Amino acid sequence: MLHQTLKHDSVLPKEVLESLVHSKTQSVFDGTLGLGGHADLIFKAYPQIKLYVGTDLDGQHLDAARENLKAYEDRFIGVEANFSQIDEVAAAHPFPRPLCILLDLGVCSNHLDDESKGFSHQADGPLHMAFSANQAHNCQTIVNEQSVGELTRIMRDFGEEPSAHRIALKIVAAREEKPLTRTSELKEIIEKSVHPRDRKKALTRVFQAFRMATNQELHHLSLALDKSFELMESGDRIGVMSYHSLEDRIVKKQFQTRSRPKTEATKFSLHDVVEPAEIKLITKSPITASPAEIEENPRSRSVKFRIAEKI
Ligand SMILES: C[S@@+](CC[C@H](N)C(=O)[O-])C[C@H]1O[C@@H](n2cnc3c(N)ncnc32)[C@H](O)[C@@H]1O
Repeated sequence: MLHQTLKHDSVLPKEVLESLVHSKTQSVFDGTLGLGGHADLIFKAYPQIKLYVGTDLDGQHLDAARENLKAYEDRFIGVEANFSQIDEVAAAHPFPRPLCILLDLGVCSNHLDDESKGFSHQADGPLHMAFSANQAHNCQTIVNEQSVGELTRIMRDFGEEPSAHRIALKIVAAREEKPLTRTSELKEIIEKSVHPRDRKKALTRVFQAFRMATNQELHHLSLALDKSFELMESGDRIGVMSYHSLEDRIVKKQFQTRSRPKTEATKFSLHDVVEPAEIKLITKSPITASPAEIEENPRSRSVKFRIAEKI
């Protein structure tokens, strides 16, 4: 797909500019650079930014972002890496402080529009689903190699799919005839496993579940948060946009735990503070998209944006 045809509307643009980045921000780590939509907005609104490092696993997105951000090439660095490698990126490119970390999780709209990436059930394509084209382990290896139990767990845990076990049994039966290689084959199995009225929801849930498993999305999110809090200094901020309840649960738990002082019961007091809070919450409850934004950009429908600052 050519750069010119790639398109993605950045979610919560105003909120990123008003609640995450601010007039003292000197650098940004944009873990999910995509096509550079948020990056462009941030550069325009905050010309004082000295260094903006964006990572993406999708090499095509990085190329497009480099093109889109040409005007800022003296301050912009694009790195083909997982955002969970933030520690390595920070070691290679020391961030002037205060730093802002932005994670806008999941797929871009054009991932779903490009059938060759295999993210969508709406058009036939290879069963790929990996953000990185270089990744050997993809959805095809999962559906053809995992046990019924593991396939069921993936669809239940990541997709909350009620017919997970039935679909897993049908996947294993089908692959005994011939390995599954196309999204249309997975789609047909799902459609045959559920009531016609549940087909659309089941397709969305199962495709999402396999995408999350293929990219080990929850694992990399947890790792990235741990490493981010480790390297953040006082005044640095982190903002995470999640689109799935399991992602938001991970972010919420980390934010809540780290925003409370650590206490321990001793023989003198029930609540001795042993360590002060590490962060303060900029958003007490997550920011969601307005009805107007949802109307214009349906992808924003499920977003939850949480922001915290290191104390
Ligand atoms: C929702 S899009 C980001 C859109 C971007 N904020 C914008 O405004 O254009 C998510 C991007 O993150 C990338 N991505 C997802 N998980 C990643 C990870 N663990 N590490 C690096 N990039 C990742 C995807 O390839 C995709 O390009």
